[in-house]
Amino acid sequence: MIIAIDGPAGAGKSTVARRVADELGVDYLDTGAMYRAATFGVLAREIDPADAHAVIKVCGQLELDVGVDRVVVDGVDATSAIRGPKVTSAVSSVAANPQVRSILVELQRAWVRNRGAGVVEGRDITTVVLPDADLKLFVTASPRVRAERRVAESGGDVDAVEASIAERDRRDETREASPLSISSEAVVIDTSEMSIDDVVADILLRVQG
Ligand code: CDP
Repeated sequence: MIIAIDGPAGAGKSTVARRVADELGVDYLDTGAMYRAATFGVLAREIDPADAHAVIKVCGQLELDVGVDRVVVDGVDATSAIRGPKVTSAVSSVAANPQVRSILVELQRAWVRNRGAGVVEGRDITTVVLPDADLKLFVTASPRVRAERRVAESGGDVDAVEASIAERDRRDETREASPLSISSEAVVIDTSEMSIDDVVADILLRVQG
């Protein structure tokens, strides 16, 4: 079974996707980590993330190894750095580049073809990458709750984090290439008042249903 999950920043998609994959005994792919890894590679080579031509050139050359617990870019362990502030503020600019997207989308589809099953999570999985997935979900929560979850996970000030994820949402929703949007075929799960366990249980019920 192939499960596609989309949703905005900090909605808890990664945690939920990973847990659902574990429960089902299938692999899990965090496509956001792929965009973050590409952004890390761009910054490591001192390329301006807004310089589309240079970014495309670099992305075609990067060696990305995005695993569940470890991300390696050109042989360098980038697991922590891809979650840091430098990558976080540059990633939506790199992800807005259509050619970067086509390189990464191809890798994502190949990942699914090689396995035949899995949970894939991101922004355009239900709409562009895997529109024929067996189960399509849009996992969201109110901006405040998303900011509070991020702060509980990695610290910071709730107001500042809320402003930063609102800005990333805005960029992800308004870009031309594969903007974040809700597929008419996706089931929307608002997790604002749900625990992770509740969300996982809800999804597993839908898998059985
Ligand atoms: O974990 P968080 O919700 O903060 O974001 P992420 O899933 O790590 O994704 C980071 C960024 O990558 C997003 O803000 C998008 O700009 C981009 N992204 C994308 O464009 N398409 C995807 N399928 C996944 C992520």
